[in-house]
Amino acid sequence: MSTISIKTEADIKGMRIAGRLAAEVLDFIAPYMKVGITTGEVDRLCHEYMVNVQGTIPAPLNYCPPGYTPYPKAICTSVNDVICHGIPGDKVLKNGDVINLDITVIKDGYHGDTSRMYYIGEPSIMAKRLGLITYECMWLGISKIRPGAHLGDIGYVIQQHAEKAGYSVVREFCGHGIGTIFHEEPQILHYGRPGTLEEMKAGMIFTVEPMINAGRREIREMGDGWTIKTKDRSLSAQWEHTVLVTETGYEVLTVSAGMPPPPEFIKTSAEQIAAS
Ligand code: MF3
Ligand code: CO
Ligand code: CO
Repeated sequence: MSTISIKTEADIKGMRIAGRLAAEVLDFIAPYMKVGITTGEVDRLCHEYMVNVQGTIPAPLNYCPPGYTPYPKAICTSVNDVICHGIPGDKVLKNGDVINLDITVIKDGYHGDTSRMYYIGEPSIMAKRLGLITYECMWLGISKIRPGAHLGDIGYVIQQHAEKAGYSVVREFCGHGIGTIFHEEPQILHYGRPGTLEEMKAGMIFTVEPMINAGRREIREMGDGWTIKTKDRSLSAQWEHTVLVTETGYEVLTVSAGMPPPPEFIKTSAEQIAAS
């Protein structure tokens, strides 16, 4: 029995707006991502932009899944060996740091969820390659989305691409269905086998958000109840889009003027990248 919701036309309209707004926070903050800024300052700037300019609600603030303490900030800032859920604070960004900013906004009850990598100053060749391969992993996964395809098809291409590059896929966290609820069914695993798991149907909306480690896949949970790091202290990268299954393929909902273009090898039609 499937409990994956099929969105209505009204839901899809709301999700397009929320998705664009989330991506626009990432555009807004890009010029500030420089040596010397603290993660707390990045959070404050994004939080003010969401509330005062967009009229959106930061979904992470006070978010409290079962077994967790309430998340204390508006965004997630995951630096270097932090895989995900890094809490903004006093950390000063220095030359060569790599950081993922993960933004989830709520607008008219609908959630838009997207994240990007930023390089502070001059990144190492290692860090740039990890960021690029992870970006390709996300888009390869997205490119599999169409009615009749299986959720396992997404994880398979992501895992293949990551492991071929000598990297590993984090298994403890995954993509997720999203709508008026932040995290709902289905889970989108970033590893797996083609033809397995649920069949995709037009009207489903979920995120694709691979976390790829330069070293081993094992994780370490920090004492703050949220921050997740690589066990071997290797670098980790993540990119995230929220995507709608359409009648013919997919539509990326977290689009904005400043979003990086898909990799060259991804064949997209105008319809598949929402013109906003
Ligand atoms: N935005 C994250 C995701 O992609 C979730 C963050 S939960 C938080 O699913 F509470 F840490 F914000
Ligand atoms: Co997400
Ligand atoms: Co996210």
